[in-house]
Amino acid sequence: MSTTHDWAAIRADFPLLTREVHGKPLVYLDSANTGQKPAKVIDTVDDFFRQHNANVSRAVHALGTEATEAYEASRTKLAGFLKAHRDELVLCSGTTFAINIVAYSWALPRLKAGDAILVSRMEHHANIVPWQLVAERTGAVIKVAEIREDGTLDLDALYAAMTPDVKLLALAHVSNVLGTVNPVKEICREARRRGITTVIDGSQAAPHRAVDVPSLGCDFYAITGHKMCGPTGTGALWARREHLAAMPPFLGGGEMIKEVRFAGTVFNDGPHRFEAGTPNIAGHIGLGAAVDYLSAIGMDAIEAREAELLAHANEELRKVDGLRILGEAPEKAAVISFLVAGAHAHDLATLLDLEGVAVRSGQHCAHPLLQFYGVPATCRASFAFYNTHDEIERFVAALRKVRHLLA
Ligand SMILES: Cc1ncc(COP(=O)(O)O)c(C=O)c1O
Repeated sequence: MSTTHDWAAIRADFPLLTREVHGKPLVYLDSANTGQKPAKVIDTVDDFFRQHNANVSRAVHALGTEATEAYEASRTKLAGFLKAHRDELVLCSGTTFAINIVAYSWALPRLKAGDAILVSRMEHHANIVPWQLVAERTGAVIKVAEIREDGTLDLDALYAAMTPDVKLLALAHVSNVLGTVNPVKEICREARRRGITTVIDGSQAAPHRAVDVPSLGCDFYAITGHKMCGPTGTGALWARREHLAAMPPFLGGGEMIKEVRFAGTVFNDGPHRFEAGTPNIAGHIGLGAAVDYLSAIGMDAIEAREAELLAHANEELRKVDGLRILGEAPEKAAVISFLVAGAHAHDLATLLDLEGVAVRSGQHCAHPLLQFYGVPATCRASFAFYNTHDEIERFVAALRKVRHLLA
């Protein structure tokens, strides 16, 4: 499917990818950290500040109306991208914020001593720490669903862990370290049968595959815009309508109210009651442009393209002596975490950078996962549709070179 696209032309949409680093052509393999931006997104943000800049939902003047319409149009686009309804989409600064909304507005008022929150071993800290804060304040406990050595979730153990005390399951759709794609539809069905509310971290899924949120059957779904070609500080929480209606607001301030009196305040309806203060207007309008851009390519084509790149990179990396890949799930996104015998991940990443290759090294905001594997750090190469097969060859050639330097 991906062969019907002109991927070279698509890559040319990304101005930054033409630059050099340390005198070498840049090979950007850190898209799981943050994605690069096509000119369409950069131009949209630029045009907003040059032509339309005003606050949203407040002023009746022309600029205020233009800004509000463009901002709300982005909500509609993003909702369409997730096959959801715009009234179920809270715009916020990203996944971290989105999960914290659920923690403070859904979990904190409900949970109590004797309740449990179930998280998986492969979660990003953004889907662990908010639950620890909730647990500390409510007396609830955290339970951990373990993984297998290949980086897949142990589903039998997960279902066995869904005991009556578990009120909430927090789970990544796709792991940012292992690339594992979790069977969230099946898992949410099992959780729902047991009356467990589900929070799915879609940060690493939405940029790389078509996501039909309502059909997943979850209660909450969090995404972050900067990993899907959008600006930083953008993202959204999708929530079932009944949850949004029942949840008290997390932050108070302007725009999240209908009426304020000293005797009491009436909050706004739907997503707006969770959007206190002036939002990242330009950023979300840019995210709307990113959604248009990704949709024009097609998420199925993007998934197929990235699967090809992953297969190529796997094949080449397996030929490198002393290289170990963490995470070999059969269903895997284009993320490869690896270790090279005798070389520290930070040294590898530093030397690769000198060759123009940008990979991430460290613990990837997933300390418990690295503790499972008993390793202090990994290097992570993460791919996006704008990467090329030639870049994979250059990456692996650079890796061979730096491996020899460190040996
Ligand atoms: C799986 C996962 N969850 C959550 C986050 C946090 O996203 P943000 O920092 O944009 O809120 C990330 C970002 O790396 C991630 O990969």
